Formats: sequence, structure tokens, C-alpha cells
Amino acid sequence: MTAILVLHGPNLNLLGDREPQHYGHCTLAEIDGALTDLGAAAGYRVITHQSNAEHELVDTIQRCEADAVGFIVLNPAAFTHTSVALRDALAAVDLPFIEVHLSNVHRREPFRTKSYFSDIALGVISGFGAQSYELAMQAAIHYLDEQDSEAPRGHS
Ligand code: DQA
Repeated sequence: MTAILVLHGPNLNLLGDREPQHYGHCTLAEIDGALTDLGAAAGYRVITHQSNAEHELVDTIQRCEADAVGFIVLNPAAFTHTSVALRDALAAVDLPFIEVHLSNVHRREPFRTKSYFSDIALGVISGFGAQSYELAMQAAIHYLDEQDSEAPRGHS
């Protein structure tokens, strides 16, 4: 079964308590639970992972082939604005991904408008709180469903 990887960067483990004026009141567990249900209802396995460590996020991306991941929903958090290593990992595995942000990064400090991911992402969703993730998950499911319906018969 194809998997969708939902990957969260640093400090997102603090969601619920962390700067609710920017990030809302949902916890990471609530977000992951909702995304897992959405994926399962559409027939996809959802793998969720959060790390504060850049190398662990890179390792998780490098494991995508072994984990049968077909799509990545990624909130790189602060690494959005700094990480060539994560960008290179995504380019290396060459999987479609959506860049997600809870806050609208374009309405905040100027340094947050710089992203190392937007130009290689399939799309970017920013500013809808926890709903940003749900919109990304819906788009991921749609993408994978379309890909499946276009696959030659007898292949998956
Ligand atoms: C964030 C925005 C980033 O600028 C910030 O460093 C985060 C969260 C968001 O989801 O809005 O940690 O990615």
C-alpha cells in the first residue's frame, strides 16, 4: 500500500502551547490523528514523524523508498528558511511534495518569505492553521489517485 509521509520540523512538537496567535491551538497529535484518518479513508497508509534535528529529517526522507512512500507533506518549520540539506534530500528521492505552513509566512518577518523548498515543491499551502495540513493531504490523495488511474492495467 502506498504511503504518504507527513513530516514536521523543529518546535512543531510544541503545537497547542507554542505561539497560538501564529500556530493555533491544535496539538501535533491531533493534527497527525486527523491526517491519518483522512489517508486511511482514501486507502493510503500515513506515516507521521516530527524531529527537531535536521539529520533525522534527512534520514526519514532517505528512507522513503524502503517505506513505499509516494508523496510527502512537509512542514519544514524553521528549516524552511535555512536548510540546503533537506532540500537536497528531497531532490535526491525525487518524490512529489507539498510545503505546508500553519501561519502565512508572507505576513510575518521578512526572513520567513525565503524558502529553500517552494521552487521544487508541487505546491505550497500557508496560513490556514491546522487546515493547511488537511488541504495538503487532500491534494496528496487526489494526486496519488490520479496517478493510479493513469497507470497501465496490470501495474500499480
Ligand atoms: C512555520 C513557519 C516557520 O517560519 C516557523 O519557523 C515555524 C512554523 C509554520 O507552520 O507556520 O516553525 O513553518
